[in-house]
Order: sequence, then C-alpha cells, then structure tokens
Amino acid sequence: MSSETPPTTDEHPSGPDGLPLVGNQLAFLRDPYGFMTSTAHEYGDIAYWEDPGGPVYQLNHPDYIEQVLVQNNQNYVKGDRFQNVLGPITGEGILNSEGAVWRRNRHRIQPAFHPDRIQAYASMMTDATEHALEEWIDGETRLVHEDMMELTLKIVARALFGTDIDEDVDTIGSALERFMEASESLPQYVLPPSVPTPARLRIRRARADLDEVVYRLIEKRRADPTDHDVISMLLEAADEDGTDVSTEQLRDEVVTLLLAGHETTALSLSLTAYLLSKNPAVETRLVAELEDVLDGRSPTMDDLGDLSYTERVVKESMRLYPPVPGIVREPVKPDVIGGYRIEPGATIRIHQWVVHRDPRWYDDPLAFRPERWTDEMEANLPKLAYFPFAAGPRRCIGDRFAMLEARLILATIYQRYHLELVPGTDLDLMATVTARPRDEIPMTVHER
Ligand code: HEM
Repeated sequence: MSSETPPTTDEHPSGPDGLPLVGNQLAFLRDPYGFMTSTAHEYGDIAYWEDPGGPVYQLNHPDYIEQVLVQNNQNYVKGDRFQNVLGPITGEGILNSEGAVWRRNRHRIQPAFHPDRIQAYASMMTDATEHALEEWIDGETRLVHEDMMELTLKIVARALFGTDIDEDVDTIGSALERFMEASESLPQYVLPPSVPTPARLRIRRARADLDEVVYRLIEKRRADPTDHDVISMLLEAADEDGTDVSTEQLRDEVVTLLLAGHETTALSLSLTAYLLSKNPAVETRLVAELEDVLDGRSPTMDDLGDLSYTERVVKESMRLYPPVPGIVREPVKPDVIGGYRIEPGATIRIHQWVVHRDPRWYDDPLAFRPERWTDEMEANLPKLAYFPFAAGPRRCIGDRFAMLEARLILATIYQRYHLELVPGTDLDLMATVTARPRDEIPMTVHER
C-alpha cells in the first residue's frame, strides 16, 4: 500500500470488479472482514467499485480518512444507506440527524457528557457490576456477551433516567436485540425502504414494544425531573435555548442513547474477555496491576490514573476488535481524495478494522500487545490510524463514558474472576453497524 498522492484525475482508482446487478454486495456480506481487508491489500489506499446503489470508494489511508471526517467534514453526510439501517428505530436522534437538526441535538446533549458529569457515574458503574457479580457462581459457565449487554444496558439506562429501571430493562434489551438482528438481513440493504420485507415487519414490532416502555419512562421523568438524569437535562437545555422539545424528539434521543450507549461497550468488554483468555500473560499482568493498586477494594474514579495497564488493555482490544468496524459517508459536493475526483452520489467506506490492523502503523498487527501503547508509539502514530470512536465533529459523544465504564467493569470483574473460554469456541463476527459475535462467547468463571 502506498500513500503517494497521484495528480488529480477523472479516472477511477482500481478495485474489485464485482458481479452484474449486485456489485460487491454479496462478497461483502459473505465475508465482510475478508473483503474489506483484501480490497485494501490489493488496491492500496483508495479502492473503487460500482454497487447497485452507486459508486463506492474504500479509503485505507489515515490522511484520506482525516480529510473526510475532520478537515472537510462539512462536505460529508452519513447518507441514505446509514439512515435506512438505523433510522427505523432511532428516528431523528443525534446519531442519524444531519445539518442544523444535528447541531441542535448535539448542543442539547453535550452537557450530559461533560467530564464532570461523567465522573459522577463512576460509583454507579462499579455498583452495578458488583451487583451483577453477586449472581456468578464459581465454576459455572456464563454467556459473557449476554452478561455484558445486560450490564451495560442497565448502566446507560440509569444514567439516562436517573433511577433504576431494571424491571423494564429486559423489554428494552429484547426489542433492541430483535431490531439489530432484523437489520442484518440482506433485503434491508438492497430493497427500497417502502418494501415491507419480513425483517422490516419485525423491526416495526420491536419499535412498538420499545416505544411503549420509553414513552412511559419519559412521561414519568417529565412529571418529576431530577438534577442528574439525561432526560431532565435535555428538557432544561431546550428551555434555555428557547426551543421546544417534543416527546417524539425525546424518544428519538433516548432510544439512540440506549442503543449507542450499551451495544458498543458490551462488545468491547466481551471481546476483551475473549482476548484475555487467549493471552494469559496479558491477563497475569492486568491482575498484578489490579492487586497492586486496589488491594482487593472496589475501583474508583481516583484509581484510574494508576490503572494504566488496564487502560492499555482496553485500547488494544478496541484496536483489534473495534466495536464499530466501519463507517460510511456521502459527499454533498465534489471533493478530491488522493488525486481522484469524488462526486455526490458516491458512498465512502472507512473501516477501523482495516486501518487498525495495517502493518504500516502497527508492528505484528494481529498480536494482542497492550504494551505497544507507549507515549512514544502514540506520538508517532498518524492521527487517524486509531479511531474506534471516529473523529471530527461527529466523533462519539459517549467516548469518555465508554472508556470510564470499560475500565471500571474490567477491573471489577478481573480482580475477582478468571474467565476461561470454553474449548472449541470460535469467534465469528458479523459486520453490520457493529462487530457482533454471531454466536455466544461461553466462558467458565473461576473465583481468584
Ligand atoms: C466502546 C464504546 C463505543 C464505541 C466504540 C463507540 C463508537 C462510536 C462511533 C464510531 C461513532 C461515530 C459513528 C459514525 O460517525 O457513523 C459513535 C457515535 C455516537 N456514539 Fe458512540 N461508541 C461507544 C460508546 C458510546 C456510549 C457509551 C454512548 C452514550 C452513552 C455513545 C453515544 C454515541 C452517540 C450519541 C453518537 C452519535 C454522535 C453524533 O453523531 O454527534 N457511544 N460512537
């Protein structure tokens, strides 16, 4: 792969040919990670092909990615492909909206993610984890991804609603799960949104179940606001900027934050547990740090500065298994990337998965080596060679929340338990909006 910039040209970069009618969509769906990786290896920093939805460019160089997400971000929108997948459940919340609506949404939500507010969630996160661990029995086999999904959903729901909503968490979790599963079906991507496919009908039912709970919880909060929950803060921010926030808008933001705020962190924790089970030396070093710093007590916000190896474990895990493996953008006006003219109507694909495993930026890229994250290594890394939370104005708003949560949960669990992967378990990741394991990750838990 080379980062040499050719002179501006009207020709297309080269790329995989694809089949008549379906382009490369089948190849992608059959083996998404294989397809995106081999495309980068074979065609270099920018690859091109035609899909039924129009021209596609895959960007594989950090500088090109920085141009789209950061420097020239105002020229790019998420576009219809993204909207058609998540829009049916998240509506016009912050993740899906564009332009002025997105700016208003981001402005209203930002205060809830201010570092001071995030810190206030730390003890709630540790308490929730300890509570979950009360159910664990020494020697039993647990479904780790399911456990992490339940825990992170409870945590984000408590932050959103300011109270325990554990009795509603199952309904919310099952509706979001059914939505994510249905949104993976092929017709979702190739048939126009008006065609009522079975998957779309399942999505509609999941939305109805979800809305029933979410509307009830919003009404409860409206009637009885607190000074520490996200819904009350959204209402207050709307009051301050003199605009109104409808119940539908609140619903869209709440569902967006419930979905974006638990699925990804759960994935990062499940895949970290998987990686630790395969790399005992890393686990030994992690546990030594936990013993040294915590000496058996629960981790707090103040400990995090001393838990530097724990942080590197999380970072390295999100390098190898970025919970969001790729993102898409569409140009609003023509742009030139790597010397090639890109017209509106094209789809830009950017894959954290590919860049995070590129040997140009990471030695021995497939190895799980938290110790690679030294200050010197980070100083030499191109800015967009590591971007699990994306970058630019649309960077993840929950990045600090997620990093806090992942470190506290990991520290709380590994201080007490060793998790052993059930022999013969294969990791097969899907690649839709997130990198979800197709099957469960069963692990036997051993008290230390
Ligand atoms: C390990 C955990 C997480 C990862 C890897 C992650 C990753 C990402 C990425 C890559 C994006 C950009 C998507 C795009 O541009 O298409 C994003 C956006 C977003 N994330 Fe996260 N996220 C995580 C946790 C969270 C949490 C905990 C929350 C909230 C509690 C959250 C809320 C959001 C929201 C609201 C957006 C949309 C921001 C905007 O468009 O302005 N995320 N996330």
